[in-house]
Amino acid sequence: MSDDLQALRAETEAALAAAADLRALDAVRVSVLGKSGSLSGHLKGLGGVPAEQRKERGAALNRLKAEVEALLEARRTALEAEALDARLRNERADVSLPPRPFAPGTAADGGIHPINRTVEELTAIFGAMGFKVVEGPDIESDWHNFGALNIPDHHPARQDHDTFYLPGTMPNGHRTVLRTHTSPVQIRTMTAQEPPIRIIVPGRTYRADHDATHSPMFHQVEGLVIDRDITLGHLKGCLIDFLRAFFGIADLPVRFRSSYFPFTEPSMEVDIGWNRRTGELGAKGDGAGDWLEILGSGMVHPKVLANCGLDPREWQGFAFGMGIERITMLKHGMPDLRPFYECDLRWLRHYASDPIAPASLHEGI
Ligand code: PHE
Repeated sequence: MSDDLQALRAETEAALAAAADLRALDAVRVSVLGKSGSLSGHLKGLGGVPAEQRKERGAALNRLKAEVEALLEARRTALEAEALDARLRNERADVSLPPRPFAPGTAADGGIHPINRTVEELTAIFGAMGFKVVEGPDIESDWHNFGALNIPDHHPARQDHDTFYLPGTMPNGHRTVLRTHTSPVQIRTMTAQEPPIRIIVPGRTYRADHDATHSPMFHQVEGLVIDRDITLGHLKGCLIDFLRAFFGIADLPVRFRSSYFPFTEPSMEVDIGWNRRTGELGAKGDGAGDWLEILGSGMVHPKVLANCGLDPREWQGFAFGMGIERITMLKHGMPDLRPFYECDLRWLRHYASDPIAPASLHEGI
């Protein structure tokens, strides 16, 4: 290799070693291999080299070019590794930073559906009172759904439920139905375990009914408490605490009105105070105060206890049941039930809640 090319290689090597970052490296590349770079200049000058030396000089220039390209590449790899090391040394992930807030309208495709949020909330509230969550099947025998609950064949309450009967019978001859309420899980629990029992049962229920406030599939939550000395006072205290915590209104008016269910005695419908004119809950005192029916409840009927093999002289308890859509609509001021199941993203984005924030006890209990 001629002296001038050796000098060029030495110069290039020194410049590469001195290049402290990728940008300096690129400047070296341009100054040697760029259009008006030094090596490119020599290549262009080949035409002026005497013919007998041209071949050898051309080959030497090409070798040098390949060598410079390899050196550039090696230096680039080294600089990149250094840069990554430096970043890893200096960057720290601050795990104490709060998560990015849930932005309604951008990330509902991960939000909690209002039905599920209500189930989470009531689980938190009843959980704090010592209740466990239990589930049961959607397809039931008519014995669990009706008979054991003191609703015999031909009882008028069977008509009230607009039942979906399924074809065929169970192995024991019982008819199969889509459960019309969550109460059959009372029976399943009392026949499967010894008292004391303290459960809530959220789940799907079915009735042949469809309009702005009824859907053929909807959700209920059942409650059941069985122990030795359970009284109506426990029922009232438990439901008043629940309703005030759930709706977040510490002085929500609650009224117990006598009613009838075949599986409870006495039975009570529970009403809460609201303002018929504004739809506001708890609103009383401006003359517009009114009552809104919210759930059914009562002391478990002795016949139901006996049907489950429990001695009614030894065990008493209370039960309640309410519609999950209904309490969700009231809490959030939703006028129509149907969008709960329509999967309209605009509605979901509006009503979905933050998947990261846990369900709270609201006003506390
Ligand atoms: N199962 C009743 C219904 O669906 C509600 C209820 C449950 C009433 C428990 C009293 C006790 O209407």
